[in-house]
This record gives sequence, structure tokens and C-alpha cells, in this order.
Amino acid sequence: MKKSFALFLLFLSLSLFSSLFAQSFKFAVMSDSRGRFNGVNEPVLSALANHLVENNPDAKFLFFPGDMVNGSKTNPAQTVNQLHHWREVMSPVYNNPNMIWPKIWTTVGNHEVQHRDDEKNFKKIFNNVFMNGPEDELGLTYSFDYENVHFTIIDSDRWYYGDPDDTLDDRRDWHSIKHLDWVENDLKAARQRGVKWIFVISHETVFPTGGHLRDGLANLGLNFTLPLDSVKQNSLNQRNKFWEILKKYNAAAYFCGHEHVYSRQSIEGVYQIIAGSSGAPIYYFNPTFDEKRDTIIAGMEMLYEQSVPYYKVFNYNYGPGKNSQASDDFVGKRAFHYVTLNVEDDEVKVETYGAYVKEDNLSEMGSEIQLIDEFVIKRETEF
Ligand SMILES: [Fe+2]
Repeated sequence: MKKSFALFLLFLSLSLFSSLFAQSFKFAVMSDSRGRFNGVNEPVLSALANHLVENNPDAKFLFFPGDMVNGSKTNPAQTVNQLHHWREVMSPVYNNPNMIWPKIWTTVGNHEVQHRDDEKNFKKIFNNVFMNGPEDELGLTYSFDYENVHFTIIDSDRWYYGDPDDTLDDRRDWHSIKHLDWVENDLKAARQRGVKWIFVISHETVFPTGGHLRDGLANLGLNFTLPLDSVKQNSLNQRNKFWEILKKYNAAAYFCGHEHVYSRQSIEGVYQIIAGSSGAPIYYFNPTFDEKRDTIIAGMEMLYEQSVPYYKVFNYNYGPGKNSQASDDFVGKRAFHYVTLNVEDDEVKVETYGAYVKEDNLSEMGSEIQLIDEFVIKRETEF
């Protein structure tokens, strides 16, 4: 009797000890699921959502930064209908009892913002978020802490509302982060609270890797040639300033979509992880000097010679034997996928699960869903 009581005490103290120091938890990221089934690539998104729930019962929540649906320039009711359909397809996640409120953290991509009513409608459908963003982005830009980790979700695809009495004085205002001061103050406050990890999530790429070399946050435009004019320089400056803020507060990673591929690379100490297709047609990566590509393709990809002015401005590794990307450690996969992150005290284990694309149909899976990448992010700087 005494022995079993002693064992019980030992078990109790071990449990208390491990719970005191257990800070490990898992979250997931996926993006860009638009397609032809009421605006959604239902077969692919459904397969990934089910795989996530069945294979990652310990995941606490999922981030989904935009281009969930095709949307519409002229019919906002159609976009609303597509977004409701997206929620139905994601029901395995919404009904997963292991995840915690609100289960999926969303913000818009450019496809959800094509009409002046779209932002208002989106906020009504995805209203379970924190209302602590900039005043004109409440419900679209927000942040929160979970355990000892800070998450900042940013709208990078706004609508510009001009004169309220002039319905022609408004337009899409994509590919920019309007409130860099808010971002900086948010990350600074998180560090002052003593968080151990910072993750930032938005739709647009900072370092484009393929189909959106011409836009992303730098937004250099079609047929760009040097020298930079003042408008493009200003856009590039804003994009550079954003990355400087992530570096300054030692963000572990920036997640985005927009490019329909999976990729990750570490740029000046911060990972950019593109979780860019859970259904949207798969793109190709930036052309390299050695690649004899003579056709164009899926998104807005270009041939090598057309890409060089962009590579120069972005300071990419280009030329013979180079990868035409921002970093030598670039890893990219042409697959439909989701990314999981297991956050521990001093490192984050990243695992990406995906299905490679069918070569003759860029919207269909050509393999089983499998582990396609894994790596570790180490926490090196104390704040
Ligand atoms: Fe996009």
C-alpha cells in the first residue's frame, strides 16, 4: 500500500514537473485553395484538410492567409457564396475537437478583395479574430499570443476607398502593407512582454520565387526595366522596411501564399516560408541561367532574360550555376501542401506534407500526400 502510494506521488510530481515545463505545441499553415468547384479546388483542399486532421491530432490551430476562393470583380454576392463553400470544405478542421478557437485564423488575399464590398463581407464571415489591428484594418490585421509565442496576421491586399460620394474613385490597392508603424509597435510590444518566438503571416511574398516575380510586396510591375522610377522605388522601400522590422525583432519566420508552390529560405536570419497552394494551380520557379525553358506556363512566369532586371533589384543569386533566388539555402517543391510547426523552447520543427502536381494537369494531385520537407529553426538571439 505504502509502495503504491509512493509511486502515485512520484507520478503526480513527474506530471506536475512536465506540465510546468511543457511549452511544446503545434500549429499549421496553408494558403491559396482557389479552383473551379464554386471558387474552390474542392478535391485537393478537402484531401489536405482531412490529412491534416487525421495525421496531426496535436495541431492547435491553422493559419490560412488568403486566396481561399476565386472571388469576383463584379459580383460580391458570388464571392460570399464561395467563401461559405470554402468553410464547408474546411469542415474537417472546423469540426476537429482537438483544435482551439477559432481553429482557422484567416486574412484576405487579392482574390478576396476585388470589389468595394468585399472587405466588409469577408469580416462578417470570418469574424472570430482579435480586433486589435489598425483602425481601418480591424478584423483583417490582428495579433495575439499563445503560450510564449506571438502571431501577427497582416492584410497585404487592401481596397482603396476614395471619395465616398464618388463610386468611381475607388480601386483595388493590392500588394502593400499600409501600416508598418503598427507592425513595428506590435512586434516591439511582444518582445517587451518577453515572448520567445514571433511568427508573421500575410498573403503577399516579400521575396518572389516564381509566378509572381513581378508583383508581391515589391510590385515592380509588368515588363520592368531599370532604372527604377520613384513609384517603384517607394514600393520597394516599403517592402525592404517591412523585412527590416522582421529582422529587428527577430521573427522566426514570415509565412505567405500568393505563389502556388511550397518554398522556404532564410534571408538575413528570417525564414520566408511560402505555403502557397492547397488547390490553386501549381506554378514554376524562377528560371535559372542554365535552364533551357522556352515556354511560359502556369501563372505569370517569364523567361530568364526577362527576369534579370528583377533579379538585379532583388539582389538574387543569378547567373551560371546560381538558383535565381534570394538565398543559397532555398528549397522549393511543386506540390499541394500544408506546413506544420512544432514549437519548443529553443527550436521549431517544421514538417511539410504535400502531394506533387500531376504534370499534365496543374490543378490535380499526381501523388499521395507525403512528407515533402522537414527542417529546424533554432532560436539564437535572446531579447
Ligand atoms: Fe494571391
